Amino acid sequence: MTELSLLEKLSKKGTDFLGSKYPIIGGAMASISDSKWVSGMVNAGAFAFLSCGSFTPQQLANEIELTQGKTQKAFGVNLIILHPQIMELIEVCVKKKVTHVILAGGVPTVEMIKKLKEGGIKVMAFSSTAAVGKWLIRNGVDALVIEGHESGGHVGPVSTIVLMQEVLPFVQKVPVFVAGGIGTGEIIAMCLLLGAAGCQMGTSFICIEESSVHQAFKKAYIRSTSRDAVTTKQISSTFPVIPVRSVYNKAHEDFESYQLHVVKDYENEQLTIEEARTKIETFWAGALKKAVIEGDIDNGSVMAGQIVGLVKEETTAQKIVERLVTETQKALEKMKSRLNEG
Ligand SMILES: Cc1cc2nc3c(=O)[nH]c(=O)nc-3n(C[C@H](O)[C@H](O)[C@H](O)COP(=O)(O)O)c2cc1C
Repeated sequence: MTELSLLEKLSKKGTDFLGSKYPIIGGAMASISDSKWVSGMVNAGAFAFLSCGSFTPQQLANEIELTQGKTQKAFGVNLIILHPQIMELIEVCVKKKVTHVILAGGVPTVEMIKKLKEGGIKVMAFSSTAAVGKWLIRNGVDALVIEGHESGGHVGPVSTIVLMQEVLPFVQKVPVFVAGGIGTGEIIAMCLLLGAAGCQMGTSFICIEESSVHQAFKKAYIRSTSRDAVTTKQISSTFPVIPVRSVYNKAHEDFESYQLHVVKDYENEQLTIEEARTKIETFWAGALKKAVIEGDIDNGSVMAGQIVGLVKEETTAQKIVERLVTETQKALEKMKSRLNEG
């Protein structure tokens, strides 16, 4: 029997769970993670999630079928728990024999977890603290993703490095994958050494040839530095804004002045609090699609994590995965030889 490499040893928990060659997950990205993107990722040796977003059950069934037609490899589906037809979407995943589902957008209900598990599906969920993680595991979740503040899209308040220290030492029962700000093999090696089962990435896999994202969006990524990927600003404590990280553009400026305008109308009693809240909450509706599909990178939302500063070119999923794996292996070997020194 051939000896396992350092990477294979440290990856085993993650790759056995995912059924992929490498412990690398392409995180679902709304309007981006379609059958072409997912099959490109899994055929390159990673694992990946199809984004369901606001799909109807029929649309999800079609996209799963399309993906299954493009690859024999395992892939998962990302379901947003607040979707009004969430239980029907779960049924579609069971019927289509999807192997893994990640429940996103909050803490899932016990009923959702149970229904997926009864259908033979491995259930994953996001854990924002060790306590949430333990609750999820007690209720049957099979693996966790911890995602830090530096990630693209909707973000929590805590950085990846702090979450890792808060969660990894206390959750050994199930695989834990780290997300947010991952862009090189050196950091993947660190995560694996600290007990992670692998890493989930989104931003680093936008500019792949297999992604149908508009060229203007890809170019905005390639131009951007890590400082350009900022969260949306809330200007009034009465009107909460869920922070979303994206490349700073005209829409960010407009959002700030729009909030000022709405707050003023509320103060002048031209709007009720509910009307004002709805106006602010719906400002970004359709903004990601506008940027991803129409290429309107000024008025749309160019969601991106801080690691966008390391995205320098359009290339293939295969090349990025190969680079990440080589870097991880080298970093692990380097650490091993440093430990053996003297
Ligand atoms: C453009 C974009 C859209 C995203 N959409 C979703 C989504 O629909 N559902 C979800 O669970 N996560 C979403 N994410 C988060 C990713 O799945 C992934 O966890 C995150 O990008 C990891 O952090 P990184 O951006 O630093 O690599 C999105 C991220 C980006 C950049």
